[in-house]
Amino acid sequence: MKRTKVLDALKCTAFGSEICVKGWVRSKRGSKGIFFIALNDGSTIKNIQIVGDEASFPEETVKRITTGACLSIVGRLVESPAAGQASEIQAAAIEILGDCDNTYPLQKKGASWEYLRTVAHLRPRTNTFGAILRIRHNMAMAIHTYFHEHGYFYFHTPLITASDCEGAGNMFQVTTKNLYDLKKDEQGKIIYDDDFFGEQTSLTVSGQLEGELGATALGAIYTFGPTFRAENSNTPRHLAEFWMIEPEVAFLDQEELMDLEEDFIKYCVRWALEHCKDDLDFLNKMIDKTLIERLEGVLREEFVRLPYTEGIRILQEAKKNGRKFEFPCEWGDDLASEHERYLVEEHFRKPVIMTDYPRSFKSFYMKQNQATADGGSIGYKGAVAPGPTMQGTDVLFPSIGEIIGGSVREESYDKLMAEIARRQMDMTHLWWYLDTRKYGSCPHAGFGLGFERLILFVTGMQNIRDVIPFPRTPKNAEF
Ligand code: 4AD
Ligand code: MG
Repeated sequence: MKRTKVLDALKCTAFGSEICVKGWVRSKRGSKGIFFIALNDGSTIKNIQIVGDEASFPEETVKRITTGACLSIVGRLVESPAAGQASEIQAAAIEILGDCDNTYPLQKKGASWEYLRTVAHLRPRTNTFGAILRIRHNMAMAIHTYFHEHGYFYFHTPLITASDCEGAGNMFQVTTKNLYDLKKDEQGKIIYDDDFFGEQTSLTVSGQLEGELGATALGAIYTFGPTFRAENSNTPRHLAEFWMIEPEVAFLDQEELMDLEEDFIKYCVRWALEHCKDDLDFLNKMIDKTLIERLEGVLREEFVRLPYTEGIRILQEAKKNGRKFEFPCEWGDDLASEHERYLVEEHFRKPVIMTDYPRSFKSFYMKQNQATADGGSIGYKGAVAPGPTMQGTDVLFPSIGEIIGGSVREESYDKLMAEIARRQMDMTHLWWYLDTRKYGSCPHAGFGLGFERLILFVTGMQNIRDVIPFPRTPKNAEF
């Protein structure tokens, strides 16, 4: 008999008809010779109730219906007398597809997040992780749909690369060399000519540079794939392997980039509210009682558009009024998360798009703002900054901090080359990137959204390790 998914069985109103469901036992209880099984097959957060008469089944079969066991049930779909569910199944035949003994690690409810990470191979079977993973899927669909509907092309950028997009040097090397016996030159530098690619290669930290090649040909592209960072950041916001969405668009200016960032995030949040109601209701009840309110709030709010220099002024003002910060926030400092959180959660109480960052801690490819005679610069809406700034345009979110990092790109070959020289960057491996500025260069812009940070926001979860099935973090690559 054809199997019906629990999701569909729960919607079915053909009471009296015969139905087959398969899934895993969430719980079993019994009373007066009748047993009740809560069965879940992952298609929905909801379980279907199976009711059986103990006398109608072999004792041995009834004993083997334990938490975690996998069953196939054939029975009659009936209207349920119990509150909170429309239907249930009166079991006629029960087949045990897979037994589950009492060493099953998910016996008890209320296990800690830390414990569940140690059983990451099984935690998708819990209510919470089921909900998170279904939402994660839906967010991926939202992202592809958004870009497809807006005329962007899905552009596949390589995972193995010979260049460092962000120039931060925190890359994982890719090699087939025998590490015990490395070939070196006279200065002791490793020679890669006998390595698989004939040069030093790594896992990519971002698909942006290749994305720019796509945008300057197809007009508007996006990437959506894994990226890797070997930064030793043991925080609830960092993974060594995370998924990034990177749209890149020709002829987009700073204001339009901000419009895109805001519109895109709101689309994703709206999608979650429309497509993941059951799972969000569950998380709202069990994990975070203000979750849905917060998601709806983001849709209502207009994001603040704030030049970095103005942000520093607000932080300095707060300091003057007695607000304590652990880290310095003078003009030119990279903002710490306490500063971002102050601006987003205390000062504005809504998402902030920060722009026109000092050149000192941003990447080489960002568009340089017009310099003034006294060493300052003029940026967004004519705002004046005391030093050189670039059109880096990040989105800061409540409780998450930076969710998007983006920028307008420097399209002038001369200005870009001057910046590369200033940083003393080795561009040997990026000759192709520079060609975009030589052959029909055009204004363009783009951003990177950390997929897991979006999932953190949409689920209300606190730790990035809990919104990806198998997290990769320092000292942890299990599963
Ligand atoms: O700000 P980032 O480093 O920007 C770039 O890589 C640009 N090349 C993107 C672009 O313009 N196309 O990273 C972008 C986003 C961050 O805002 C953050 O959401 C996420 O990627 N991210 C991380 N997420 C999880 N773990 C990490 N270690 C992350 N590092 C960055
Ligand atoms: Mg960034």
